[in-house]
Amino acid sequence: MSFDGREFRTALGYFPTGVIIATAFAEGGEPIGMTMSSFNSVSLDPPLVLFSIHRESSSFSQWQKCTRYAINVLADDQEELSNRFASSKGRKWEGMMPTIGRTGVPYLGEAPVSFECEAYAAYDGGDHEIFVARVLEIRKREGKDELPLLFYGGRYRKLANAAHPHQARIEDGYLYGW
Ligand SMILES: Cc1cc2nc3c(=O)[nH]c(=O)nc-3n(C[C@H](O)[C@H](O)[C@H](O)COP(=O)(O)O)c2cc1C
Repeated sequence: MSFDGREFRTALGYFPTGVIIATAFAEGGEPIGMTMSSFNSVSLDPPLVLFSIHRESSSFSQWQKCTRYAINVLADDQEELSNRFASSKGRKWEGMMPTIGRTGVPYLGEAPVSFECEAYAAYDGGDHEIFVARVLEIRKREGKDELPLLFYGGRYRKLANAAHPHQARIEDGYLYGW
């Protein structure tokens, strides 16, 4: 191997992602949540998505036991919310009430889009575990056209054309029909 951990992280930082907060009720009934950038789509039929969780996270064993959770996609004005759910020490849910979805999972009503999911499969991902989830419901927040919060080069970013939100709006045409 001709690179060290630092170089690997830096190189990975060239790949931009969005930011999500996964939310669930733990075994004891308390809400848990975690900020993640490792979210991605997997399959359209069945509708599958994935994310990965570091095995050393203090809530890792709670996530392993969850059979249902929500994936909440963050908007570009939700950095604070992202930081709140990224900190181990902070009280993530303090002063907040989760909204309960149709499938009984807690989700963040302020997120532009939330996916209500059930656990589908889990795979070894080295120091992370890869969670594959089946999407059961989609919640779209009505109202303003929201732009996504991005993570790139180890920092939060906003779309460069955010000054013209209409240019970044999601439309029905996708690149090469994908
Ligand atoms: C932008 C961003 C993306 C993150 N992505 C991940 C991720 O994909 N997987 C992960 O395990 N932790 C990720 N983290 C770190 C977790 O959010 C953090 O370790 C976790 O919330 C710790 O909580 P816990 O102690 O309750 O387990 C990310 C943090 C930030 C700020």
